[in-house]
Parts: sequence; structure tokens; C-alpha cells
Amino acid sequence: MKKIIIALDGPAGSGKTTTAREVAKKLNYIYIDTGAMYRATTLAFIRSGQELEGFDFDSLMNNIKIELEPSESGQRTLLNGEDVSKEIRTADVTKLASPVAAVGIVREKLVDQQRELGKQGGVVMDGRDIGTVVFPNADLKLYMHASIEARAARRTKELIAAGEDVSVEEIAKRIANRDEFDSNREISPLRKADDAQVIDTSNITIEEQTNIVIDLANKIINS
Ligand code: CDP
Repeated sequence: MKKIIIALDGPAGSGKTTTAREVAKKLNYIYIDTGAMYRATTLAFIRSGQELEGFDFDSLMNNIKIELEPSESGQRTLLNGEDVSKEIRTADVTKLASPVAAVGIVREKLVDQQRELGKQGGVVMDGRDIGTVVFPNADLKLYMHASIEARAARRTKELIAAGEDVSVEEIAKRIANRDEFDSNREISPLRKADDAQVIDTSNITIEEQTNIVIDLANKIINS
């Protein structure tokens, strides 16, 4: 059976990660959360204790190893062998992930790794630039988006469940700032690929959005 590449892009809280994980499970595909790779790189930078301005990302990228492993909850992220899955979701990492992900050498190295991971097909990859830059020839490209209210509500719920004390207003502000930064950076900004199909997830459930993607994927797999 054909093993396709599914590219899932979109802004924070659009539901792409959950959908990608569910779709991969159902199709028995590999799931790759590229955001986790930018987050792990950001954590390595934070741990260096240095300032962003003038930081030697070249040397950082040559000295870190990021691995994604399947786990019960979907995926485990390892930084130099250490499980950092939880730590990469903290507010500090989230805030700095955007400026770190805008650094050319960081993107170059991670995009190379992502292409290597996905080249055999049978993969669902989610991020900001998968359909535009990482796999411009992906078999299926989707762009998920949702209203800022829906996205902020989802993210607030997740963070509260993880023990953070946050308000939906504050999260909406942080998401909007990050979207703006990600959409306006010079290298590989967040944008819909011309040939991506758009899914508005504001008023649909995870199951519904997963089924939409599975149906589209099956049409291509069985064609
Ligand atoms: O889950 P959420 O949408 O909050 O973020 P994420 O997907 O984990 O990505 C965190 C940050 O990494 C984003 O805000 C982007 O700045 C960056 N990123 C990127 O530039 N390119 C990707 N393919 C994935 C993430």
C-alpha cells in the first residue's frame, strides 16, 4: 500500500498536533511533532544561561541531539538522551521558541533532520512550514486554523491541567503575539501552502477533524 506524507500546518492551538497524533495512530504511520524539536532546541539554549543576542547557535546545533520516540501519550522528546517532554511545554520555553525558531542555522539543521525522518513516507508531520518548506511535494497538505477564542480556550485548559495558573485572556495575548512573530519572520514564515486544504477547527471535535484528515488520506492512499 502507498505510504504517503501528510503535512499539517497551522498556528498555535489549531489542533494540528492532536490531529496529527490521532491520524498517525489510525493509519499506523510515524508521527513527528516538529514543534517539539524547536522547543527542545530552545530548552538547550535556555540551559546555556546566555543571552539570545549574539548567541552561537552554530555550535549549539552541533552539540545537541534531539530524538522523537513513540510513547503512550503519543511522543517522547529526548534532548541528548534526556526525556524533556514535559519541560519543553513550560511558558518560558514556549515564549522563547519563536525567536529561536527564527534563527537560520536552527531551521537548517532541524529541517534536514525532519526530511530524513519523513523521506520513506508513512508519516504525519505537523508544524508551521511542513507543506511550504520541509515537504513541498507532500501528498496531502492541510492547514488547520481556528478562532483565537477557540485556540486560547484549548490551550488554557491544557496548561491548567498541567498545573499552571493562567487566564484565558493572558493565553490569548501570548498566542496572538507568537502567531504574529511566526507569520512575519524572514525565514519560512507560517503561511498556508497554495495547494493546502484548509480545515477550520473552531467548532468541530478532535474526532471530526481526525476523520476529515483520514478520509482525505485514504482517497490518496487508495487511488
Ligand atoms: O503547539 P504550539 O502550536 O503551541 O507550538 P509548537 O507547534 O510546539 O511550536 C512552537 C514554536 O516552534 C512555534 O511558535 C514556532 O515558532 C516554532 N515552529 C516552527 O517555527 N516551525 C515548525 N515547523 C514548528 C514549530
